[in-house]
Amino acid sequence: MPPLTAAMMQSIRKLAAEKKPAFGEGESHIPVEHYFSHEQWNAEIAALFRKLPLIVAHSSELLPGQVMAHDGYGLPLLLSRDKDDTLRCFLNVCRHRGMRLVDAAAPLSKASVVCPYHGWTYKLDGELRHMPHAEAFSPCPTGERNLTALPCAERFGLIWVVPDPQGMIDLDAYLDAYLGALNTEMPWYEIDQLVTFRTIEAEYPANWKLIVDAFLESYHIRVLHRDTISPFFSDGITASERIGPHIYSLVARREALETFAEPESHETLRELVTPSQVIFPNTITIFHPDYLSLVSLYPVGSERLRWVHRMLIPRDKATPDWAPHWEKTFNLIEQGVFQKEDIHAAVEIQKGLRSGANRTLTIGRLEEGLTWFYEQVCLHTQGLAK
Ligand code: FES
Ligand SMILES: [Fe+2]
Repeated sequence: MPPLTAAMMQSIRKLAAEKKPAFGEGESHIPVEHYFSHEQWNAEIAALFRKLPLIVAHSSELLPGQVMAHDGYGLPLLLSRDKDDTLRCFLNVCRHRGMRLVDAAAPLSKASVVCPYHGWTYKLDGELRHMPHAEAFSPCPTGERNLTALPCAERFGLIWVVPDPQGMIDLDAYLDAYLGALNTEMPWYEIDQLVTFRTIEAEYPANWKLIVDAFLESYHIRVLHRDTISPFFSDGITASERIGPHIYSLVARREALETFAEPESHETLRELVTPSQVIFPNTITIFHPDYLSLVSLYPVGSERLRWVHRMLIPRDKATPDWAPHWEKTFNLIEQGVFQKEDIHAAVEIQKGLRSGANRTLTIGRLEEGLTWFYEQVCLHTQGLAK
């Protein structure tokens, strides 16, 4: 286990010493169009969901010799991991007449990918290996009809893709810069040691950013989560930090602050605080006391999102005798807290955005994370991000 980083310790000490909410600099305002305008949505697709490294899956979901489709970003993606464990991402589109190659979002074990239309066959590294009646086609340069590759990398147990067929960049180098200090924070959570217990996917009539907003402040915990998680948390005591475009938060747990002791391990840290991160733009990690919620938000339309929540658990507890515990915990958080409270709030906000009641949404000094996130979205969509 890597040691606790200095930044993390500093935040925890600050929370414990002050035991009161840390107010941000000032009130700010987000125009309501930000959550329903088609122009805004198109700008976000172009600037965020085609240009930035995005998380598409947990590493444990794709074993050597498997392929799976991924459509969340509005481009048909095909992920493959060959027998030598090399991970790749392609457009899930045949190079003959464009047929979709793999239909399943669940992993499939395959030695090769055979197009269901005329049988062109591709190796898992994307190379075209066989064309029935090859003599019917003109010769072409080697590699010309291989699958179209996209930048793809694996880091911290997560699979990252830049969904831009024109963007052949060195994604590892890009992630070094893009994640910045998160590169030293993330290993501590050993996400690569976890396995997926359950994934739930659903669409909701709300802008994707409204859900991100719900994970950027703890001001709502006392009221919205009054009957669920509120008793476990202090009221608004959160340390948040910007790491490039990403936001890293530690939300203080109630009892732990009363009997503060410096955390020595992963477990003791999570008794004190719930760490959570918004990995810009659309991934949220929540480190519950004994498992990780990995939430991905997909922008289906300007007023429609796709929610994908993975529950990741320690490998040594992925056993049948632990299953009832995980089942109960997952249902509590997914149905009881996320669906009935956080997602419900986003859907209810969306209903009133066009009503004319508000020209802007008001962001108070305990919700500064929303201002930071909004700034980043604007910097990227206006082409001003560094
Ligand atoms: S479209 Fe794929 S083989 Fe014809
Ligand atoms: Fe919440």
